Amino acid sequence: MRFAPFVLLACVACRGGGSPEDRELGEFRGAYPETEQPTGVVRSFEIVAAPTSLPLVDGKQLEVWAYNGQVPGPTLRIKLGETLRVRFTNKLPQETTIHWHGVRLPNAMDGVPYITQKPVQPDETFVYEFTPKDAGTFWFHPHVRASEQVERGLYGVLVVEDASPPPYSRELVWVVDDWLLKDGAIYPAFNTRHDLAMDGRWGNAITINGRTDTVVKVQPGERLRLRMLNSSNGRVYAPDFGDLDAKLIAVDGLYLREPIAARGFELAPGNRIDVDVTFDKSTTAPFEVVDRFFARRPNTLARFEVEGPLVATPQFASPARGTVPRWSGALSAPIAHTFRLDVQSGGPFGISWTIDGMAFMDHQHAMPPAATLTRGRFVRLRFTNASPRIHPIHIHGMFFRLLARNGQPVDEPFFRDTVLIHAREEVDVGLVPTDAGTWMLHCHILEHAEAGMMTTIDVVEPVP
Ligand code: C2O
Ligand code: CU
Repeated sequence: MRFAPFVLLACVACRGGGSPEDRELGEFRGAYPETEQPTGVVRSFEIVAAPTSLPLVDGKQLEVWAYNGQVPGPTLRIKLGETLRVRFTNKLPQETTIHWHGVRLPNAMDGVPYITQKPVQPDETFVYEFTPKDAGTFWFHPHVRASEQVERGLYGVLVVEDASPPPYSRELVWVVDDWLLKDGAIYPAFNTRHDLAMDGRWGNAITINGRTDTVVKVQPGERLRLRMLNSSNGRVYAPDFGDLDAKLIAVDGLYLREPIAARGFELAPGNRIDVDVTFDKSTTAPFEVVDRFFARRPNTLARFEVEGPLVATPQFASPARGTVPRWSGALSAPIAHTFRLDVQSGGPFGISWTIDGMAFMDHQHAMPPAATLTRGRFVRLRFTNASPRIHPIHIHGMFFRLLARNGQPVDEPFFRDTVLIHAREEVDVGLVPTDAGTWMLHCHILEHAEAGMMTTIDVVEPVP
């Protein structure tokens, strides 16, 4: 397993040229700022990871691991163009790192042990510093023993605001997590055979910002921006906003081409959505946001209660007007690499989750990349899920678009950094890497990742 033959790694680079497809693919160039425009402003934060005890879930004290003594950790807020500087200190009983999920940043700041940095040992400090290239909702979490460290409470949101943010009445940040609790404590066995054989660790309490009893009081007329993150190890949510006027404006940070109804989006571990919600002036009913991933077992996530005097609804065009290419020629591009997702027995946990027949373990930092891509070149990749379980696949440091599911073309009006791949499904994505380096590609069911379902892709500079 460790010494997989190199033939698996063949990569067909997509050729340049002047065909209509190439011009179409070149549309990508307008999708993001080509280079961030640094304002020179540096925003400094101090983050300490440490064990603590907090009133969480139903309000009883729970032993957790936390960033700055809170779960979720602090919401870091900067503006596009500003530089984020985080002085991070590890006060945990084990090594860790911080990964900035979804952020296009220099590879050295990506927080992946042995690939981009050495793990941060207990009592050590590491400084992360970068200027995000995109505005949007991002998050941060450990990339060491993540199935344990994230489950214990280590995660936080990074909001990169637009240079001039749309004038919503209010903004809410909701971190959705689930907890596996037993006798008032976090169930202490991680990576159990059950979790590994199934879709990871699914908890018995679902929380918004750490609490099961979230009620938000709003005034009629208010227009909210709701930033939602799924930080769960394995659980997927399909938030249903009922009769509310709720539109999806951003996915995984970036604005959509145009707003679409929010209902039905599969919010897999790692995914974020930004929702534009207006409370109709004539209504007073309480509204529930309900997870309907399993239609027959809905979960109430939170409640809105409408009260107080009517306020004027801010009138402005939806910010969802991002440049999102259609890439209609992309399905005729060659497949540069097919990632085969599968499972086998054996390995340190008894079950191994594999990509191209190999299980990646933290210590196997010498494993060769699954594919080599060229910076600035469009590439089509395929994921073939040979297993009967689901896999939310996440790629670090770049955004991709869904091209097809099981051969059926898909035109989602947005980019992603994480996509849920269903059992036995075949998914094609297209992307143009913008930053050189060694980037992780893995399942965001943290138990699957821990048991091997991770690999790397190299992005190299084009040969002039
Ligand atoms: Cu959110 Cu490599 O992870
Ligand atoms: Cu998986």
